[in-house]
Amino acid sequence: MKCILAFISASLVACVATSPAKGRKTCTVKASGTNQTDDAPAIKSAFKECGRHGKVVFKPTTYYVNSILNITDLEDVDIDVQGKLLWSTDISYWLNHSLPVGYQNQSTAFVLGGNNVRLNGHGVGTLDGNGDYWYQWIKKQPNTSNYPGRPHQITFNGLKNSVVTGVNFLRSQMWTMSIIHSADNTFEDIFINNTGNVVSSSNTDGADTIYCDNIRFHNWTVYNGDDSISFKANSTNIRLTDSKFFGGLGIAIGSIGQLKDVTETVENISAENVYFENTLHAFYVKTWTDDQNGYPPNGGGGGLGYAENMNLKNLTTSGLRGAAFSISQCTRFSGAPGQGNCTNSQFQLRDISIDGLKGTTKTDRVASLQCSAVAPCTDIELENVDLVFANGTESTSYLCGNVVDAKGWNCTGPVCESGSATGEC
Ligand SMILES: *[C@@H]1O[C@H](CO)[C@@H](O)[C@H](O)[C@H]1NC(C)=O
Ligand SMILES: *[C@@H]1O[C@H](CO)[C@@H](O)[C@H](O)[C@H]1NC(C)=O
Ligand SMILES: *[C@@H]1O[C@H](CO)[C@@H](O)[C@H](O)[C@H]1NC(C)=O
Ligand SMILES: *[C@@H]1O[C@H](CO)[C@@H](O)[C@H](O)[C@H]1NC(C)=O
Ligand SMILES: *[C@@H]1O[C@H](CO)[C@@H](O)[C@H](O)[C@H]1NC(C)=O
Ligand SMILES: *[C@@H]1O[C@H](CO)[C@@H](O)[C@H](O)[C@H]1NC(C)=O
Ligand SMILES: *[C@@H]1O[C@H](CO)[C@@H](O)[C@H](O)[C@H]1NC(C)=O
Ligand SMILES: *[C@@H]1O[C@H](CO)[C@@H](O)[C@H](O)[C@H]1NC(C)=O
Ligand SMILES: *[C@@H]1O[C@H](CO)[C@@H](O)[C@H](O)[C@H]1NC(C)=O
Ligand SMILES: *[C@@H]1O[C@H](CO)[C@@H](O)[C@H](O)[C@H]1NC(C)=O
Ligand SMILES: *[C@@H]1O[C@H](CO)[C@@H](O)[C@H](O)[C@H]1NC(C)=O
Ligand SMILES: *[C@@H]1O[C@H](CO)[C@@H](O)[C@H](O)[C@H]1NC(C)=O
Repeated sequence: MKCILAFISASLVACVATSPAKGRKTCTVKASGTNQTDDAPAIKSAFKECGRHGKVVFKPTTYYVNSILNITDLEDVDIDVQGKLLWSTDISYWLNHSLPVGYQNQSTAFVLGGNNVRLNGHGVGTLDGNGDYWYQWIKKQPNTSNYPGRPHQITFNGLKNSVVTGVNFLRSQMWTMSIIHSADNTFEDIFINNTGNVVSSSNTDGADTIYCDNIRFHNWTVYNGDDSISFKANSTNIRLTDSKFFGGLGIAIGSIGQLKDVTETVENISAENVYFENTLHAFYVKTWTDDQNGYPPNGGGGGLGYAENMNLKNLTTSGLRGAAFSISQCTRFSGAPGQGNCTNSQFQLRDISIDGLKGTTKTDRVASLQCSAVAPCTDIELENVDLVFANGTESTSYLCGNVVDAKGWNCTGPVCESGSATGEC
């Protein structure tokens, strides 16, 4: 009775106020306290009861997630994570049951979606994929990159007008989060650490956007073993600010152009005030060739489209491991069949500008731009570049192939052309 009254009054308040009202229906998820008992059913029922115009609270304790979660249709909900969600280590369960992401034959452990969702971890709330088990296991498999059924920690699917803030993501099973079919969201004050405790982690991207529009990433810190953040098929109007990336591959566009005869685009990407420490690149783009060899996730090619209007400002580096800016139009993953022609992609890269790229590096290559001969890279601008070795010697090489309209720089030599999963050769 009390709940029903509270619910009605919350609805009334919500009509006149945009900020979440006090007294909305609240469900506090009960924790079993042991990883022998799956907390997923309790989580599902809390969202069922309070997922629309209510509030779901995770107490400062550990919740054991031993089975898939598919939480959709949320509406005007506060999700308050004060504790930790810890995923189970039953790899064969997850390989058999993880949910389809809806792209690249990828899978996920947790789908979350809805409108006007406010997920707040207050700096302490944590999602822990228990990835140490996965990192050891994947090292023994033939496909160390993508393995069928290896799940992303969370997939935001159909998330609109929402804010995710103050959440820690630890030891993701694979990618930390895929964000798909989502628009008008902010993800801020996010801390990700996928550093393995036993062996190093692989394919543990910070975030990947697919079919997304108007997404803001602010104040991210990512320690990981793959793309720090990656904007993939049909990512438009994405803004990344004030973030720090450690040990991964830097900001990625793609891979893209993987689906034969399918048009995909990336448009209007901006990044500003980003720090890179010990990452491979600061910014890199990867597309498949025009030759289709196999199917996603590990194979593919022959895609159409373009990536354009990508503007990066004030990038600071410390100990970069490869070319600060890299393009490879010859993406190839380990385990993928066939070879393919590195310069025949029909996917075009154009209108890229980097203004302000400073700091230290371990290579002489500022840029390594391997573009398609069929659809050359155009309008590539680099301004205010000052990359130096630890001893102060300037990095001076700009390697390129099939780049037209270079602005602010000149090509200093030919680029290598060969299959690559991470840019360069
Ligand atoms: C439960 O926790 C123990 C100890 O951390 C661990 O060895 C075991 O794999 C866990 N089981 C599941 C199902 O996660
Ligand atoms: C799927 O589950 C079955 C039965 O539990 C198990 O025998 C099998 O190994 C699992 N498959 C994978 C790919 O782990
Ligand atoms: C999740 O549940 C929704 C609603 O029932 C359903 O439409 C969707 O297909 C499910 N998603 C997955 C990946 O199974
Ligand atoms: C998934 O993989 C299968 C078999 O390898 C392939 O036929 C299919 O086209 C792929 N689907 C997508 C969406 O890539
Ligand atoms: C940025 O996010 C971190 C959590 O990763 C938080 O501790 C810090 O206060 C945030 N910084 C600002 C300026 O809000
Ligand atoms: C990241 O995790 C690794 C492994 O547990 C740990 O050694 C390291 O201190 C963590 N980094 C941060 C910044 O918390
Ligand atoms: C991706 O964008 C292209 C170009 O705008 C469009 O033709 C295509 O339908 C989009 N694909 C999806 C799945 O939204
Ligand atoms: C450039 O970014 C760094 C963080 O990487 C920040 O400390 C600095 O204030 C930024 N500079 C300007 C002019 O905004
Ligand atoms: C490895 O990936 C290839 C290419 O996608 C696929 O054909 C093969 O079945 C995968 N092998 C395993 C063991 O998953
Ligand atoms: C690769 O493709 C390009 C562009 O179509 C073509 O000029 C070149 O001859 C091809 N190379 C080989 C080895 O077929
Ligand atoms: C600085 O270090 C680079 C890379 O190790 C080396 O190639 C270069 O010769 C060094 N310059 C000087 C002046 O020692
Ligand atoms: C590029 O080369 C041209 C012709 O030699 C020269 O005029 C121009 O100053 C160079 N630009 C840069 C940024 O070095």
